[in-house]
Amino acid sequence: MNTIGLIFDLDGVIVDTAKFHFLAWKKIAREIGFKLTEEHNEKLKGVSRVDSLHRILDWAGVSVSDEKFNEMAHLKNIDYLTYVDKMNAADILPGVETFICQAKAKGYPIALGSASKNASKILKHVGIYDLFDVLVDGNSVSKAKPDPEVFIRAAQKLALPVENCVVFEDAEAGIQAANTAHMLSIGLGDKYILRNAKYVFPNFTEITLEFIEQQATKK
Ligand code: BG6
Ligand code: MG
Repeated sequence: MNTIGLIFDLDGVIVDTAKFHFLAWKKIAREIGFKLTEEHNEKLKGVSRVDSLHRILDWAGVSVSDEKFNEMAHLKNIDYLTYVDKMNAADILPGVETFICQAKAKGYPIALGSASKNASKILKHVGIYDLFDVLVDGNSVSKAKPDPEVFIRAAQKLALPVENCVVFEDAEAGIQAANTAHMLSIGLGDKYILRNAKYVFPNFTEITLEFIEQQATKK
């Protein structure tokens, strides 16, 4: 193995935005008389905006016209962006920036593999846009996680075989996508929820680059 490519999910891995998505979806759900819970929110992690709204409407047992659907998705995003606009470097999750900088210092290419259409905006807001060699986000893929398209596209842009890529993910759907793409999947968060990941850590302060290098080389 010559090099490894490190592919990072955004929401819940680099920045703590899950709480903002939750607040914005709760507001939309309330308007249709549905109480969105933390358990529901867990099922929305890593899921695209459109698919998230489909799930919420399903859970609520509500159907809406296409026009209303688009309006709801649009309003959710407007509300979500009011939180994003207040984000800064303090919203970067513990240890991740240091980890990326160490990997870059060793020459490993860094990619973003996110479902979000707001990814560039968020990375610029928190000041780490320039750390990424490759960006693949919700604007550049046609199939949402758990489909592996986002990570396969990232590997192609990194010009690396999928076996040389490591994915960092906080969502079940993302771990599934990484596994289907035949990449080493590293979960960030709850061991039980992310039980399909090859390894799970609570956050980046617990991960060493040496460990990742060893595991990626072993594959
Ligand atoms: C994922 C989030 O990263 O991006 C999901 O985990 C979100 O909660 C999805 O729905 C799409 O994000 P956006 O910013 O395009 O609405
Ligand atoms: Mg995520």
